[in-house]
This record gives sequence, C-alpha cells and structure tokens, in this order.
Amino acid sequence: MISPEGGGLHGLRQVEEPLLVRACLGEPVETTPIWLMRQAGRYLPEYRRVRSQFDFLTVCKTPDLAVEVTLQPIRRFGFDGAILFSDILIPVEAMGLPVHFNPGPEVDSPVRTNKDVQALRRPDPTEELSFVLETLRILRRELPASVALIGFAGGPFTLAAYMVEGESSKDFLLLKGLMYREPVTFHALMEKLSLVVSDYLSAQIKAGAQAVQLFDTWSGILSPRDYREFVLPHVKRIVEKVKTPGVPFILFGVGTGGLLELMKETGADVIGIDWRTSMKDARRRLGPDLPLQGNLEPAVLYAPLEIIRDRAREVLMDVGPHSAHVFNLGHGVTPETPVDSVAELVKWVHEEGRRLREAEAKEGGS
Ligand code: CP3
Repeated sequence: MISPEGGGLHGLRQVEEPLLVRACLGEPVETTPIWLMRQAGRYLPEYRRVRSQFDFLTVCKTPDLAVEVTLQPIRRFGFDGAILFSDILIPVEAMGLPVHFNPGPEVDSPVRTNKDVQALRRPDPTEELSFVLETLRILRRELPASVALIGFAGGPFTLAAYMVEGESSKDFLLLKGLMYREPVTFHALMEKLSLVVSDYLSAQIKAGAQAVQLFDTWSGILSPRDYREFVLPHVKRIVEKVKTPGVPFILFGVGTGGLLELMKETGADVIGIDWRTSMKDARRRLGPDLPLQGNLEPAVLYAPLEIIRDRAREVLMDVGPHSAHVFNLGHGVTPETPVDSVAELVKWVHEEGRRLREAEAKEGGS
C-alpha cells in the first residue's frame, strides 16, 4: 500500500522505478513482472539471422550487435526486464584465460594448481570490459523507462567450474577434487573470482544496470555443508560489496532445493528458484516477504497454450498472496521453444497478475 504520508521521495520512486525493480524490492506492484533467462537466443529467428553473420563472441563484444540482440525480445514481447546480452565467461577471458564457444564454453588452459590461480589477473572492467559497459549505457538510453535493464555475472563457483574443468561436466570431479584436496588453493581461486565479479557488477550498476543477477548455476551440485564452507562466504562478500540502494541483487542457481536457506543468508534481495522446488515450498521456507523469482519448467513452453496457462497459474498461486514475485522460467529458454508460447505467457502473466491483485485489494478493502 502506498501511504499518503509516505509521499516525498518514496512516492516519487514508486512512479519512476520500473515494475520489475519494485517487485524485487518487495514494494507494491500492480501486476507480476516477467522476464525470462535466455530471452535473447536461438529460438528467435531474428537472433539466428544475426548469428548467421557473426559468431557468438563477436556479438558479445560489439556493443551495437549486443544492443540489437538484447532488444530483440523486448520489441516482440512485453517483458519487464532486458538482460544484457553477454556470457558469464566474458570476464574470465579478461582474467587471462582464453575462452571459445562450441556451442558450450571451452577454456584452453584450465586452472589446476595454486600457480595457475596466482597467475590470474584482476581486470579493470572500465578498461578490459569496456564493451560491456558501453552496451549497458546504450541500452539504458534506448529502453523505455518501464523496462528494467538487468546486468549479470557468473557466480564464483560456476565460473570456477568452467575454469577448472575446462568445459561443462556431468560430475565436476576435477573441481570437487581440487576443493577437497587443496582447499587453500580452491578458496584462493574463489576469492580472486569474487573480487573480479564484485568489480564487474559494480561497474555494470554505474553504467546503468537497474538490477543484477548472479548466475551461480552449478552451486546446486554441492551439499548444504559444502555450500556453507566453500561458497557462502564468497557470495556473501560479493553481495555486501555490490549492494547499491534501489538496485536489487538476484541470486539464481539450478538444483538448489537443498540450499535455499543458505542462499538467503547471502543477503541477496531476490532468490531465483528452479522448477524442481515448488514455489509453495520455497515461500514456506524463505518467509512471506522475501522476493522470489521463477519458476516455470522451461519445457512447459512446448505444451499447448492452455497447459502453459494452467502451469503458470499454479506458479502464481503457489507464490501466494501479497507476495513479491518476479515471474521467470526455472532456467533458460531452450532453442526449440515456440515464439508464440513465449508471447502468450508474457501476456497471460500480466493479465492474471493484475486480476489477482485486484481481487486481493477487494478482499482487503471489504
Ligand atoms: O539470458 C540472456 O538472454 C542473456 C544472455 C546470457 C547468455 N548466457 C547467452 C548465451 C546469459 C545470462 C548467459 C549465462 C550463462 N552462460 C550461464 C548461466 C545461466 C545458465 O544458463 O545456466 C552459463 C552456465 C553460461 C555458459 C554457456 N554459454 C553455455 C553452457 C552455453 C551453451 C549453451 C547452449 O545453449 O548451447 C553458452 C553459449 C550461450 N550463451 C548462448 C547464448 C544465447 C548460445 C550461443 C549461440 O550459439 O548463439
């Protein structure tokens, strides 16, 4: 509720901040905001057209191309957020480890020893990642004021996974082996990555990002005990360093059903939930007020529209009333996703979110 005595600056902010930012800060919203991880990507014909002319890294490193691809889903659908087009491995290159995509990331000389860790550089984002900051500055000018610009970085554990393994892995035994055998080296790597990620996210906020998401995708492979020892202190430090009033910090991981309470301990403003945890369970465990993001199973978008609406309704109902919620998938949009399904989902979430809030207001008022 916006109280009249709350006017002044606070009242002004209510008008000016995009819906997505307000929902992430737990402020009252007129409907549920929605954006999708990987909303720019191969399921869009216009993305495939750009990619037929330029390789993925060229798109990431050329501000005009990265801006174009970021805006493609914004033009088509009514998303409430535009996520910077880039990749979590971009700052890893700037640390001195060349990366290529095939189509998943591959690191030529993986990090395996303490000497390898010591050799990694802490880049100055305003110098070595200036193309990302330039992309954000242009986007901030081009986006409508109602669409929030979302910056991001990979979580330190997820970046370490690619840096140690050299590529995606099923069991991450090289990474876990290093963690258990040489915890001092492992923590040194995590500390260095945390500094790099903090510098990078802070620079993105300065360049115009209105929310940031830490993609700690692979943290879900850890037991709660190991997450607490090996990841939590580092992510907590990143959150502390990056936190900027009015700019929400979203923490996302996959398979993190066993870690939700620990993720909350990091101090992040919003916790991203994958589809293997129900929003009801997440809400019960994290409390009625913590903003949550998620969590439609991405493959539901392959179903007929009425099934998509039913499953999206279940997500909204499971999150519960009065609740701060940003609608998203439980992970990224997959390449074969029908474009019309995404269009219908966005339209429906906005309509249903509005209906639910009007019904709640009536109940509350009577
Ligand atoms: O969400 C967005 O629209 C923003 C752009 C974005 C990309 N990658 C573009 C991309 C973001 C936020 C990421 C994050 C990312 N990258 C993560 C964390 C989130 C997640 O999905 O778990 C991870 C683990 C990566 C590493 C990565 N990059 C992988 C595993 C792959 C290959 C995946 C595939 O679909 O084949 C990439 C390449 C990549 N990053 C593509 C895109 C659009 C596909 C590139 C192409 O061929 O055009």
